[in-house]
Amino acid sequence: MKCWLILLIGWLPSAFAVELIQNTESRDYQSLNGEWNVIIDAFDVGDKRKFFTNTVPSSPSQLVEYNFSSSMKLQVPGDWNTQDKELFRYEGSVWYHRKFTVDKRKNKNYVLYLGAVNYIAKVYLNGEFLGGHEGGFTPFQFNVNDNLKDGENSLVVKVNNRREPDYIPTMSTDWWNYGGITRSVKLLELENAYISDYSAVYAPGSEPAIKAYFKAAGDYSKKSKVLFRVPELGINATVALDKNGKAEVIIPADPQLWTPENPKLYGIEIAFNGSEVVDRIGFRTVDINGTEILLNGESVFLRGISIHEESPKGAGRSWSEEDARTLLSWAKELGCNYVRLAHYPHNEAMLRIADEMGLLVWAEIPVYWDIQFGSEEVYQKAETQYTEMLTRDKNRAAIILWSIANETPKDEVRTEFLGKLVDKVHSLDPTRLVTAAINTQSTTEYGRRVDDPFAEKVDVIGINTYCGWYEDAPEECANYRWVSDYDKPIIVSEFGAGALQGFHGDEHQVFTEENQALVYRYNLEMLDNMVGLRGVSPWILKDFLSPRRPLANIQDYWNRKGLLSENGVKKKVWYVMKEWYEKKAE
Ligand code: GCU
Repeated sequence: MKCWLILLIGWLPSAFAVELIQNTESRDYQSLNGEWNVIIDAFDVGDKRKFFTNTVPSSPSQLVEYNFSSSMKLQVPGDWNTQDKELFRYEGSVWYHRKFTVDKRKNKNYVLYLGAVNYIAKVYLNGEFLGGHEGGFTPFQFNVNDNLKDGENSLVVKVNNRREPDYIPTMSTDWWNYGGITRSVKLLELENAYISDYSAVYAPGSEPAIKAYFKAAGDYSKKSKVLFRVPELGINATVALDKNGKAEVIIPADPQLWTPENPKLYGIEIAFNGSEVVDRIGFRTVDINGTEILLNGESVFLRGISIHEESPKGAGRSWSEEDARTLLSWAKELGCNYVRLAHYPHNEAMLRIADEMGLLVWAEIPVYWDIQFGSEEVYQKAETQYTEMLTRDKNRAAIILWSIANETPKDEVRTEFLGKLVDKVHSLDPTRLVTAAINTQSTTEYGRRVDDPFAEKVDVIGINTYCGWYEDAPEECANYRWVSDYDKPIIVSEFGAGALQGFHGDEHQVFTEENQALVYRYNLEMLDNMVGLRGVSPWILKDFLSPRRPLANIQDYWNRKGLLSENGVKKKVWYVMKEWYEKKAE
């Protein structure tokens, strides 16, 4: 079946793009992870030389100036920066190629799914251009029914991670610009009609219920019944799809509600057209009331930590369940019930394990610092990134906060851009709160004042403050008084200081563990006096790589603000924070 619907992917039109498929892990698929051949193409000669055709000379006299099979190899998933010394700082194009064999069956939909590619991807199957994708942290897929061969296939992905002014993120970030196919690649084999999207949320009220939604794709005209089961709740409902292949149903139910202390997940089953999708979903509500954040109607304080998606062993973009479990276990060990996954959508395993472990989540897209707020095209990219993240993760009970920006300039153009995005996210998901991390607080005689006009738009205000590090002496922080122009909950989404693990000295000497601990102690005093404070996520769980941190023998391109070293060794500050959380949890 030829899909003629042309979907615009950033600047690359694609005849093969399909709606995002929910929960690919529960589908039948062939993994295309593993070793791929790659060609480094710093001068982008590959387009003209048609690298995507993977041409092999048919005679000794035929000139073909590339050969994937004799080229270097890289692991997928994985960034290229930590797989080869020469690529550590490389920003440019890399062509990936692999072959795979398929026993192609009739009456099936074949969808090629890529979990994430940083930053621009162009995808070719058997020499044919499928389409492209822009954005390094969200999934995309293509229907390949027409291009897929029975037997051997040739897949080429051109990846480019060069930074550009009209990208999200843009030219400068305080994290490493890891390039590559950084998450799993799958060839999904779906029925000719399948459930592409679904959600199930808790609907409180006099008659508590579960509200479920289903969306079919493919040739669903003749199939109209979905069977929705939640065995533990005795739910066994047959739901009819409408002519657009959609259905919504409200089923009375009284589930145990998901909380960090009791992260109850229910097994759900969705049977349709001979195949079944299974998932584990928690049911809870989140809301605000004045300066309170309410989880299942109860006020909650978010004891958090900020986390970058970097390997717990040191450098490298993390993607595996194992890495996610390690990073989140450290957060649990610190006494957290909440994590800020900065500054971009993390891999799906992070969210699913947060669900399982009982860690509330702040999720965000990299609208970071000074992107081009005046550009409509850039705005569309922000919406696309949000829609992709939200569609993938909307069934994760752990996620309570959608953050739409970090440290953006306080001006009208930005405020209008972000205001539109808040409305968009609310329309996509009315069940969660919207926030953003701002650092525009103005200085007062007594401390700081939250007065950014943009804060009017969000449900929860995130504040980044580096008292005692980028500004003022640590001791002054304890006397800071914060006032807010808004009757809204405040989360201090970042505060902190740097220290090289193992470097000890006077507590006023920067980068010593003693100084970092000192800055924390005074900041925590400041937080204890902060009216409307409903959560914190210190910057940051572990040291991480950043091109902006060149101080030799101290930073060596690591941002040293971790409570842990780059490979998880505790610094003095860890115990200061842990003690404060123990008190908070009482
Ligand atoms: C900023 C920013 C982070 C950065 C941190 C720092 O607030 O949001 O991405 O790493 O400060 O300076 O360490």
